[in-house]
Amino acid sequence: MEFKVQRGPLTKQTTEILVLGHYEGEGLLPEVMSIDKAIGGKIREVLSTEEFGGKFLQTLLVRTDRKIASPRLLLLGLGKRAEATLDRIRQAMGRAATQIREMGFRQFATQIHGKGLPRTSVQDLAQAMVEGVVLGLYQFQVYKTDRQIPPKEVRECALIEPDDKKVVEVQMGALRGKLIAEAANYVRDLCNTPSNVVTPSRLAEEAKKIASDYHLRLEVLERADMERLGMGALLGVARGTVEPPKFIVLEYDGAKKKGRPVALIGKSVTFDSGGISLKPAENMEQMKYDMSGGATVLGTMRVAAQLKLPLNIIGVLPATDNMPSGTAMHPGDVLTTLSGKTVEVINTDAEGRLCLADALAYAKRYEPAAMIDLATLTGACVIALGHHAMALFGNDPKLTAQIQKASDETGERVWEMPLWEEYHDQIKSEIADLKNTGGRPGGSITAALFLKQFVGETPWVHLDIAGTSWNGEKPRPYIPKGSTGTGLRLLVQYLANLAKQQKRSRGAI
Ligand code: BES
Ligand code: MN
Ligand code: ZN
Repeated sequence: MEFKVQRGPLTKQTTEILVLGHYEGEGLLPEVMSIDKAIGGKIREVLSTEEFGGKFLQTLLVRTDRKIASPRLLLLGLGKRAEATLDRIRQAMGRAATQIREMGFRQFATQIHGKGLPRTSVQDLAQAMVEGVVLGLYQFQVYKTDRQIPPKEVRECALIEPDDKKVVEVQMGALRGKLIAEAANYVRDLCNTPSNVVTPSRLAEEAKKIASDYHLRLEVLERADMERLGMGALLGVARGTVEPPKFIVLEYDGAKKKGRPVALIGKSVTFDSGGISLKPAENMEQMKYDMSGGATVLGTMRVAAQLKLPLNIIGVLPATDNMPSGTAMHPGDVLTTLSGKTVEVINTDAEGRLCLADALAYAKRYEPAAMIDLATLTGACVIALGHHAMALFGNDPKLTAQIQKASDETGERVWEMPLWEEYHDQIKSEIADLKNTGGRPGGSITAALFLKQFVGETPWVHLDIAGTSWNGEKPRPYIPKGSTGTGLRLLVQYLANLAKQQKRSRGAI
């Protein structure tokens, strides 16, 4: 899909359909006034008849009878101005774009919505709008053989900026938004694709493609390498599957100097059957998305390189299936992790923390300035927070605050949960250093505390994305059903903020 910036007044825009925003309970925006005049007061009419009031996400198609360059308008409700946020603008654009596709148009133009929002530049607005469009239009139809030909497809969107001085800003925002949202859609593709296709080997191939396209270093450790290194926890999980496990490490050197990297670690269980502690059949098919964390790390590495962020970043994906078989690990087995700590396996379905234990220990070898892991780790997280927030755990208030800031800015919600030591008793084993489950009470907390044992002093944040990675309910304005790709925009924002902050503090020296 192509985005371009168009100058000039709204009445002169040649387009199939022109999208105009309207705040609920307000008069027409000044720039819309001239259109309304040109088409004989039609907009004011629908407002007065209450056919359209500007309620958030409400839309109405209005014909212009060719009195202006665009044959039709789509009025788009932005809700109350006092409740306006960048994310609402993203959502409104997602809704508008999907409706425009439904109506069969291939092209549209839109004004920049949300001007005047506090602490928000035109670049931010353009970025959020483009994100809304690209994320909203996402569809996963690879396996549909009866696809409509030609498909309904929106090919082009023009952002209208009357102020010549702002055009470059809009262009930059649009480009950024496009790269970021396309990376999130890449994450969605990987997670929606079933496990017979997205195997650990396929994840390694994806990493290889990213590495060669954007000049990243790649290392893929095979089963024998993992044995040599002593990754007993990951290997324990991988014992049940015939799919070769892969330990994937991507290195991006974007900083001029050899500074400490940020390490991103993503749970990459390409299918979680539960292993010998087999899961019930209902919804088991969804466990193809148990590699969402790893996919998000791949997508983030890709955009970080595309945006040429001046940072050093390491991406780590411990990839394996979790399957039952004659060779699978048993409940009761004791595994020796890469760190040397031993773990008694109580439940083979608590496999994510085993994979991550070795991945965190491995990432620490890079002496990272910060480690962030993303994992569809616990069902308990879904119970605690539902589908609208990731659980955040951290050992460093500064890093936690940085992630929270990125969360506020992107609308990808995080909610901090505690790592209090009192919970630790639940994961003490009689015969080993730790056991891999802490029972049902505080299930997300004990899982996070388990991970913490492999982190040491490194600033670390763990994001449990079990509830937010998959939309099993109804489509939301820019989040269709299936994989959501959430976490990527959050990470990219965090990294971009970090780069900006480092640049500022260097400037001060
Ligand atoms: N991948 C699952 C967690 C999960 C559940 C993610 C639902 C998304 C939706 C994880 O490996 C798991 O099975 N966790 C167990 C841990 C338990 C056995 C201690 C769980 O949460 O039930
Ligand atoms: Mn599991
Ligand atoms: Zn799992």
